[in-house]
Amino acid sequence: MRRRRIYEGKAKVLFEGPQPGTLVQYFKDDATAFNNKKRGTITGKGVLNNRISEHLMLRLAEIGIPTHFVRRLNMREQLVREVEIIQIEVVIRNIAAGSIAKRLGLEEGIQLPRPIVEYYLKNDDLGDPMVTEEHITAFNWANTQDLDDMLQLALRINDFLLGLFLGVGLKLVDFKLEFGRLWEDDEMRIVLADEISPDTCRLWDVKTNERMDKDRFRQDLGGVEEAYQEVARRLGVLPENGLAEVTRPKLVQ
Ligand code: TMP
Ligand code: ASP
Repeated sequence: MRRRRIYEGKAKVLFEGPQPGTLVQYFKDDATAFNNKKRGTITGKGVLNNRISEHLMLRLAEIGIPTHFVRRLNMREQLVREVEIIQIEVVIRNIAAGSIAKRLGLEEGIQLPRPIVEYYLKNDDLGDPMVTEEHITAFNWANTQDLDDMLQLALRINDFLLGLFLGVGLKLVDFKLEFGRLWEDDEMRIVLADEISPDTCRLWDVKTNERMDKDRFRQDLGGVEEAYQEVARRLGVLPENGLAEVTRPKLVQ
């Protein structure tokens, strides 16, 4: 079957879905970092992120967070609602790491006084610059109501995921969310979109502070595949038939 490719990103492809208003989200093994300067493959990442993101989106839906997720279709694909992606990345931080540690001279690993939310413009040519609410509303990338919805959802998601990950021995250091506008009979709702996975979260082992996320790839720490597998295993979503399928990605057109 030949499907229309709607969009290709660094880690995912979006295809036209089976019904109007749906898309198929395909998870690749490709990984990039530092705004595309570093590229590589993390074998089995697509399969694992598909499962991990499915699990987290379903748990979030259970507590009333609206999401684009409909259902997982197969090892690498999930059915999602078609939304208009808001071109802002919402980053929520609990512990200092990555760019905030560098920018503000904070020691990595210190607990922040409270969760800190930051906004970044999705623009590869500019290297996803940090922006403020002022920029976002002045340029109409989102209005104040959209921003308020995104902030409230982000904080609820953070509270819930902090507890969920802590329950499996992982600290949710920080993570990135994307939201979309979903239109239903002239009514617009902001819903959680994209994915939540070790590509988009920093996850540290509670006991050892070992990095269990994409920082292993970014910083060449080794054991990248194993870290993604361990996150999936702890969440109870490691594919049952082992990783046979994981290591042999199916070709798509
Ligand atoms: P940062 O410390 O590099 O700003 O990243 C903060 C969090 O956001 C971290 O969990 C990784 C995630 N992130 C993405 O998912 N995509 C991105 O393009 C960037 C820059 C960060
Ligand atoms: N900057 C993103 C990251 O490090 C990925 C990218 O820009 O290609 O996660």
